[in-house]
Amino acid sequence: MQQFDVIVLGAGAAGLMCAAQAGQRGLRVAVLEKAEKPGKKILISGGGRCNFTNVNAGPGNYLSDNPHFAKSALARYTAQDFIDLVNGHGITWHEKTLGQLFCDGSAKQIVQMLLDECPDDRVEIICNAEITAVEALDRQYGVFASGQSYSAPNLVIATGGPSIPKMGATGFAYELARQFGLKVVEPRPALVPLTLGGEDVLFRELSGVSAPVRATAGSGNGEASFDEAALFTHKGLSGPAILQISSYWRKNEPIRIRFLPQAERDWLMELKRDRPKASLRTVLREHLPDRLADALADRLGIDRELGNVSDKDLRSVGEKLADWRFTPNGTEGFAKAEVTIGGISTNELSSKTMEAKKSPGLYVIGEAVDVTGWLGGYNFQWAWSSGYAAAQAF
Ligand code: FDA
Repeated sequence: MQQFDVIVLGAGAAGLMCAAQAGQRGLRVAVLEKAEKPGKKILISGGGRCNFTNVNAGPGNYLSDNPHFAKSALARYTAQDFIDLVNGHGITWHEKTLGQLFCDGSAKQIVQMLLDECPDDRVEIICNAEITAVEALDRQYGVFASGQSYSAPNLVIATGGPSIPKMGATGFAYELARQFGLKVVEPRPALVPLTLGGEDVLFRELSGVSAPVRATAGSGNGEASFDEAALFTHKGLSGPAILQISSYWRKNEPIRIRFLPQAERDWLMELKRDRPKASLRTVLREHLPDRLADALADRLGIDRELGNVSDKDLRSVGEKLADWRFTPNGTEGFAKAEVTIGGISTNELSSKTMEAKKSPGLYVIGEAVDVTGWLGGYNFQWAWSSGYAAAQAF
């Protein structure tokens, strides 16, 4: 039995951050990773450039059954703290849109930085470690992996969520949660393309067409809207606006799309006055890709000069374009989901330390927890912040 101060399960974003911080505090840390190398999701993230944080990251950018849970960790390790770390390693970066920060070079730099932050004499990263059993005995956690056994008074679950199983992602964290009696909020795919069926299936013909929209889903306090691009695909809808809204979408509910989100409320009435000879198809083509403009004009069924359309009909067309309803018949599932919504219930954990209330010495960090960020660097920020929070508590 090899004895450590901390065993971290999973050498992903959260696990590596936690191990580095704990190692720097002088603790002996073993990181057990199932894959052949650490940080595989980081390597493919952000199209290979890793959108490593978002300058706007705050609790309002996260979904959870308890929206207050993320506040403490996010306040104690902020986007600026991570930027300082990146700068300290001489990694150059740029802001793309909406506060999203990407490496100028490669996501490999972020993985290397995290590994460099782990003191060699304190942190041991053990890859190809297939965990066969975890047990709690006398204030010690024992872990059995690939024929070896490890023991420590602190055990950190950092094995992520089941999104992208092709990359080895699993629901292992939830199995452990059940073993230790921790509740799991039903996991479902998030930041995921939506699929269309029924009447909406015709929109699949627009595969490859993209347009800026405002996408809205949910209702009341649970309503959210995103102004970004939507992309029609051969299965349905994708693009940043749709990925964002997928986290708020619930089965059988519609998502609402505002085409031409910048248009004034009465823009069609003004056009009727100024250009009565123009057709709806023509004016839509001036603002939208031709194929989309044609599909909308066909479905709206008003293909004559605006001057010949009644004010009532024109208003109704304007309203439809501002509130087009698609009712997805599903999502493309965990196979295509960038993250998992739900996970180990925050009710079970201290928001300050991420320690399980029922099992002293057991911690859960990163995507395994029921905290899910928006698209745009927010999920990595949660991994850094929650990993840091746990490491201060051992
Ligand atoms: P993560 O998945 O990073 O790490 C978990 C680790 O545990 C893995 O190394 C896994 O192999 C290991 N593991 C699993 N089961 C195990 C077991 N039984 N035993 C031992 N080890 C085990 N976010 C963002 O903010 N910006 C971005 O640019 C992107 N881009 C992006 C692209 C793609 C394609 C995906 C799929 C996801 C993103 N994300 C993202 C999301 C981001 O990758 C994700 O939120 C974090 O990686 C979560 O960090 P964790 O450390 O919790 O899990």
